[in-house]
Amino acid sequence: MKGKSEGFVREVALENEAATEIMGAQIAAILKSGDAVALSGDLGAGKTTLARAMLRALGIGEDVPSPTFTLVQHYETRQLSIDHFDLYRLEDEMEMEQLGLEDTLQTGVALIEWPDRAGPRFFADALHIELEITGEHSRRATLSGPAEWAARLFESTNS
Ligand SMILES: Nc1ncnc2c1ncn2[C@@H]1O[C@H](COP(=O)(O)OP(=O)(O)OP(=O)(O)O)[C@@H](O)[C@H]1O
Ligand SMILES: [Mg+2]
Repeated sequence: MKGKSEGFVREVALENEAATEIMGAQIAAILKSGDAVALSGDLGAGKTTLARAMLRALGIGEDVPSPTFTLVQHYETRQLSIDHFDLYRLEDEMEMEQLGLEDTLQTGVALIEWPDRAGPRFFADALHIELEITGEHSRRATLSGPAEWAARLFESTNS
């Protein structure tokens, strides 16, 4: 996929949690080593729910705890290693370096909740997903990022 990235924005209405899980599985299906997916939105918007759906779809059978206190949880499948970050409690940029995000992106996939906590210089290449609460069970997801992501997400298989 060549060409200059102009960026894309696409809104997806998620009627219920099942819809969030389906979207998670669709995104998981195209993930490869070096990818970052940045998940933003208010407390309880569904970032961990979506990350869990992706991890499950990638074949993680074990429990997927929220990395609220550990800041990062590591997973391995046969094809991929995945780090799930939650930067809500990040103290400073020093701590960000210690978390090893750059190593992750050399060797695997990073899913990042609260990416804004890391400062603006991170995640320029990431698929950004902003979740908004629109009802008790419904959410709006706004996907954005370099155009290459749109090509990978929307020009593949079904959906
Ligand atoms: N359509 C939906 N998609 C995702 N979660 C939903 C949806 N409808 C209801 N929920 C509920 O909303 C809550 C989302 O919680 P979750 O921990 O995923 O949020 P979060 O964005 O990770 O919050 P935090 O910032 O505290 O980490 C869960 O209780 C989930 O069951
Ligand atoms: Mg969370």
